[in-house]
Amino acid sequence: MIVTTKKLFAAAYGKYAIGAYNINNLEQTMGLFRGCIDSQAPFIIQISKGARSYTHKLMLEGLIRAADQVFPEAVFAVHLDHGDEASCIDCINSGFYSSVMIDASSNPFDKNIEITKRVVDAAHARGIVVEAELGMLGGVEEHVQVDEANALLTDPNQAREFVDRTGIDSLAVAIGTSHGAYKFSGTQGLHFDVLAEIQKRLPDFPLVMHGSSSVPQDEVERINAAGGKLLGAKGVDATQFKRAAELGVTKINIDTDGRLVWTRVHREYFRDHPEEFDLRPIGKLFMGEYAKFIAGKNEKLGSAGQLESVKKMLA
Ligand code: 13P
Repeated sequence: MIVTTKKLFAAAYGKYAIGAYNINNLEQTMGLFRGCIDSQAPFIIQISKGARSYTHKLMLEGLIRAADQVFPEAVFAVHLDHGDEASCIDCINSGFYSSVMIDASSNPFDKNIEITKRVVDAAHARGIVVEAELGMLGGVEEHVQVDEANALLTDPNQAREFVDRTGIDSLAVAIGTSHGAYKFSGTQGLHFDVLAEIQKRLPDFPLVMHGSSSVPQDEVERINAAGGKLLGAKGVDATQFKRAAELGVTKINIDTDGRLVWTRVHREYFRDHPEEFDLRPIGKLFMGEYAKFIAGKNEKLGSAGQLESVKKMLA
């Protein structure tokens, strides 16, 4: 069942966070649904601009509609990740997406508000909810590339005004994470002080944490042992998810860790089966590993086991 992120956030606020997972193909879609059913978790499917144009924008839509029938017990939102104004309007008009993110965060404050507000007006007219970003994460995400030197933490003093003037439904905050596999160095971590200040100014308002992959070291080591060349990388400590949830984070975005699962499975498989050329054995292996990965993340987010209570709330 497709629902808006707003409904999922109402159920989760202050208690746990909903996993928002980026998908690009059939195998990820199957693994995602299976993992969320296995762990009995509500979830958010994220489709980026790049994922929409990877084959054709209708392809992922078709896969998700089919998965909704294959897994009728699933409860999820379909969300455009890091849209610009044009892609947001396209998704709003598609009648398929329940939520869009407008990322105008690289603009000055007033311009960010102006663009975001236009998207909110168009989305709300069709019952679709909007996430927007204030502050700037470092790293690379689709068309958005921000050097660490230019990454900006969200200013808590601007957060209330931004929400009031745009009418958004959730706010993506920059509290020290970055996109991609290369996030933190040394002992750097999340800025819970900034998050607490934002929550004070926006009590009960759903916050979103991007760039939340953990980049597990054992995964990186396995990839490199199978021929990969990933440099030293460190991600978000997943034991911090619950603390973030208590401070108002209701959506946690994870993409890179899923890509690492894909890379590890494929590198190891072809290293160990050099004679193999069939797509399906490796596809099946990946779907199983991806489902396990998703279920494990949902445990850490606290969303595992919440499906029944969400369904009751929606009834
Ligand atoms: P990661 O690169 O940490 O997985 O973050 C993904 C993300 O924030 C997508 O919007």
